Amino acid sequence: MGLIVVSNREPYSPVREGHELHWKAAVGGLTAALDPVLRERGGTWVAWGDGEREIRSVELPPGEGRYRLERLPLRESELQDYYYGFSNRALWPMSHYFLNRVRYLGRYWKAYQRVNRRFAEAVLQVHRPGDLVWVHDYQLCLVPRLVREALPEARIGFFWHIPWPSSEVFRTLPWDHEILEGILGADVVGVHVPEYARHFRSCCRIVLGYDNDGHAVQAPGRAVRVESFPIGVEAKAFAELACSSEVRRAAEELRRQVGTPFLLGVDRLDYTKGIPERLEAFAEYLGRHPEAHGKVTLVQIAVPSREQVDAYRQLREQIERLVGRINGTYGQAGWTPVHYITRGLERRELVAHYLAADVMLVTPLRDGLNLVAKEFAAVSERGVLILSEFAGAAAELKEALLVNPYDYDGLARAIGQALSMPEEERRQRLAELKDRLHRFDLSAWTEGFLHALEGAR
Ligand code: ADP
Ligand code: G6P
Repeated sequence: MGLIVVSNREPYSPVREGHELHWKAAVGGLTAALDPVLRERGGTWVAWGDGEREIRSVELPPGEGRYRLERLPLRESELQDYYYGFSNRALWPMSHYFLNRVRYLGRYWKAYQRVNRRFAEAVLQVHRPGDLVWVHDYQLCLVPRLVREALPEARIGFFWHIPWPSSEVFRTLPWDHEILEGILGADVVGVHVPEYARHFRSCCRIVLGYDNDGHAVQAPGRAVRVESFPIGVEAKAFAELACSSEVRRAAEELRRQVGTPFLLGVDRLDYTKGIPERLEAFAEYLGRHPEAHGKVTLVQIAVPSREQVDAYRQLREQIERLVGRINGTYGQAGWTPVHYITRGLERRELVAHYLAADVMLVTPLRDGLNLVAKEFAAVSERGVLILSEFAGAAAELKEALLVNPYDYDGLARAIGQALSMPEEERRQRLAELKDRLHRFDLSAWTEGFLHALEGAR
C-alpha cells in the first residue's frame, strides 16, 4: 500500500549555479515535517514545481533517493491568483484572524478551483488501488472532494496545518460552503489543536447544516472524522545533533561572537509571527533596564517569505526600521542590541543557535502550531522558552513561559523573568518539555494520523 502526499510547496527546489543544479530545502513547517515522513516510509509526493519546469519527476532527498517527487508546473498567472491570491491573501489572513488583510476576489477563487483540479488530476495519474492519499493544507482544500469524485473508494486524508478560526470569522469567506465541502471529500480531517477541530465541526453545522456526532461530521451518506493530531518533531535526532562535537563547537563560537547572553527568534518573515511586537517588547525591556545595556542581545533570524504579497514586503521594511531604531537608540561601541539575519540556516547551524541561546522567543500573534518552539525545547540544555498563548503549541507546552504577544509590558516582564530564572527551574521545565516531545514525536504523529485513516471505514 503506497503513500501519496500532496502539498503546494515542494520539499526541495532546484537552484542553478552556473551549470550545476542544486536542490535547496524549503523553509516552512509543512515541508520540514513531511520530508522525514517520506524519507522513512517512501512514497510519492505531488507538489508545485517551482522553477525548472522541464524537471517533472525527481528522486529525493538529493543523493539519497528515498521517495519520488512529482512536480506540477504552474503558469505565472495561476501562481499569482491561486497562490499569492486566494491562498495567501484570502485563506491565510482569514484563518489567522487578520480580517483587515483579506482580499476576497472572484478572480482568485477561479484560479484556486482550476489549480486544485490540476493537483487532483496529478494525484489520479499516480494513484494505484489501495494507496493512501494524504492532502496537506489550505492551498488544496478542493482536492479531497475532486479525488473522491473520481475514486469513490479511495482512502483520503486531509491535514490543515494552520488555525481553523471561529465560525464567525470563517463565514466572512464568500466560498465558505465550497471550501468545507471540498475538505469533506476526505475520510479523516486532521488539525493540530482540539479547539480547531471544534471550530471546524461547528462551521460544518452552522454553514452546511451537517450534524456532529462526537468527533465526526455527518456529511450526506458518509461520516468524516475531524480530530486533532498535534504534530511532533524528530526529538531524538535533534537531541543527537545537539550532542555532536561539530554543533557544540559552533554553539560555543556563536556565544563568543555575540559576546553576551542572548535571546533568539527564528521565523519565516510573516505578519502572523509577531516580530515587530517582539522587537517593541525588547526595546521596552531595554528602556526599563539600563543595567542590561551591553549585557543582553537579541538575535533575530527571519527568512523572507511570499514577497510578492504587499503585506510581507511592508513587514520586512517595518522590521528593518525597528531594528535600526533600537540599535540607534541603545547601541554602544562593542554592543549591537539586535542582530538581524535574513538567510535560511542549515539544520546544524540552526541547532547550534538553539543550543547557544539563553532564551527563545516564540511570540506569534496566531500560529497553527509552531515547530520552532518544539525544536528549541528538544535541543536546549539550559534555555528558557517564552511562548505565545496564541500558538497551537501552547496547548501542549505548559512548562514554557506563556505570554500574550500583544501585551508589550507583559512580554518585557517575561524577558526579565526568563533571563533571571534560576538554573534549577530552567532545567526542570526543559526536562518536562523534553519528556513530552520524545513521547509525542514526529513518527507518533504520522502513525496516529495514518492509523486513523486506515481504520476510517
Ligand atoms: P511556519 O510553518 O509557519 O513557517 P513553523 O515554526 O511551524 O512555522 O515551522 C518553521 C520551520 O522552518 C521549522 O522547522 C524551522 O526550523 C524552519 N525555519 C524557520 N526559519 C528558518 C531559518 N532561518 N533557517 C532554516 N530553517 C528555518
Ligand atoms: C506554513 C504553511 C505551509 C507553507 C509554509 C511555508 O507552514 O502551513 O503550507 O508551506 O508555511 O510557506 P510557503 O508559502 O513558502 O509554502
